[in-house]
Amino acid sequence: MSPHADEAIPEPTTPGAQGNYRSTDENMMFQPPVENKMPHSPFVQGMHYKRTLAQFSLENTVSVITGGARGLGLVMAQALVMSGSNVAIVDLNKEEGEYQAENLLRQFKQENNGLEQLPTITAHYADASNPDSVNAAIAEVLEKHGKIDNLVTSAGFTENFDAIHYPYDRMQKCWAVNVDGTYLFAVGVAKHLIERQSPGSIVMIGSMSGAIVNVPQPQAPYNAAKAAVRQLAASLAVEWAPYNIRVNCISPGYMLTALTRKILDEKPEMKEKWTSLIPTGKMGSPEDLMGPVTFLLSDASKYVTGADLRVDGGYTLI
Ligand SMILES: NC(=O)c1ccc[n+]([C@@H]2O[C@H](COP(=O)([O-])OP(=O)(O)OC[C@H]3O[C@@H](n4cnc5c(N)ncnc54)[C@H](O)[C@@H]3O)[C@@H](O)[C@H]2O)c1
Repeated sequence: MSPHADEAIPEPTTPGAQGNYRSTDENMMFQPPVENKMPHSPFVQGMHYKRTLAQFSLENTVSVITGGARGLGLVMAQALVMSGSNVAIVDLNKEEGEYQAENLLRQFKQENNGLEQLPTITAHYADASNPDSVNAAIAEVLEKHGKIDNLVTSAGFTENFDAIHYPYDRMQKCWAVNVDGTYLFAVGVAKHLIERQSPGSIVMIGSMSGAIVNVPQPQAPYNAAKAAVRQLAASLAVEWAPYNIRVNCISPGYMLTALTRKILDEKPEMKEKWTSLIPTGKMGSPEDLMGPVTFLLSDASKYVTGADLRVDGGYTLI
């Protein structure tokens, strides 16, 4: 616990500061619901195929996606399967990963009736914040798929506490999953690519929170963690450029997943505040990441490395 956890914070000293300016508000916080109360993430339905550049294809590749059992990670996994990749979902929630891996294959079969060559889609356990667990998961993926070409790190979470009351163990967990988890998976996959002397692409899921301060919910450690993810992508892009390994970051804005929908249903005033600050006037949907992640993993972005692709409806522009 924080050493100051029991102390109340005095009112701000600037008269009228709360609410009149873009500021955090200690009454506007949310916590993620407990794991077993989470609904399954729905699939994107009704997709169909149109001709496009061959460079966007991920055929004959193996892509690992951390946090792929749910939310943004699951929808991105779906995009990778649709773009021709074999996929390894890695998640703390292995049961959900297995359930969704089966769903992905079932949906692929429905949409590609009669196609003989099916993608290999597997699910694996990992706690991204634990080096042994990460290495064991990478070894398991290699055993099942034989190689890894691409990595997407979507395992991450946010929590709201004002900085004075942020429990220290929760702050450490926030950084361990968001930052260490991203770093450990990136290093593990890069090591494999370098040994194999093969090119590869890594996409780190950061957040617009790495570039701006969200309001009204206070979440300083998460924002700092996502700034670190963005800088990790840039630094590793330079370090691994000689090995033909590209590293980019996607920084989503407010996305309406099953999780954020549940939170905002209980806090409509928060949704109102959020959308009032987005130039496009609405939150993003997880499908909005399907194109960006496919672009950054594929040869369509062959000369793009160290980039931070903001997918935020223009939030960070003003
Ligand atoms: N949803 C948004 O609006 C939004 C906006 C910007 C950035 N992001 C980022 O996108 C990523 C995905 O967010 P989401 O909204 O899909 O969240 P989510 O909670 O719906 O999904 C996260 C997944 O990560 C897994 N996970 C959590 N901790 C893990 C760990 N230690 N090891 C392995 N897996 C773990 C969870 O089991 C879950 O399946 C996160 O990094 C998040 O910070 C989300």
